[in-house]
Amino acid sequence: AGSIEIDLSKVAEGQQLKMLWRGKPVFVRHRTPKEIAEAESVDMADLKDPETDDARLVAGPNGAVDPKYLVMVGVCTHFGCVPVGEQGDYDGWYCPCHGSHYDTSGRIRKGPAPTNMVIPPYSFVNETVIKVG
Ligand code: FES
Repeated sequence: AGSIEIDLSKVAEGQQLKMLWRGKPVFVRHRTPKEIAEAESVDMADLKDPETDDARLVAGPNGAVDPKYLVMVGVCTHFGCVPVGEQGDYDGWYCPCHGSHYDTSGRIRKGPAPTNMVIPPYSFVNETVIKVG
């Protein structure tokens, strides 16, 4: 009961899929080139919880990460609300509960949340299907 499979190819560019995993929402976002460029161009010194965008991605069967797909637990690290996509000051997610702004890599940029949204454990079953958990 612990794991779910998700076909990334079913998520169109600029779209987000929400799945439930162990009672929590998991967001699968197919990022646009602009979102990827924003995620990759951030200065680590500007981050409260410094992590490169690459460090938040998992390599596919060919050993490389595909920056198009961001998979993360869609839970605000402040008090656990579910942030809203394509909102906020950093083009990522916005948590309306107390005003946390996350960037296009799901990293906290502004507001009370202490850390980035969590990347769940997952691996690739084949080129497009991942298994979360
Ligand atoms: Fe998200 Fe407080 S729960 S800002």
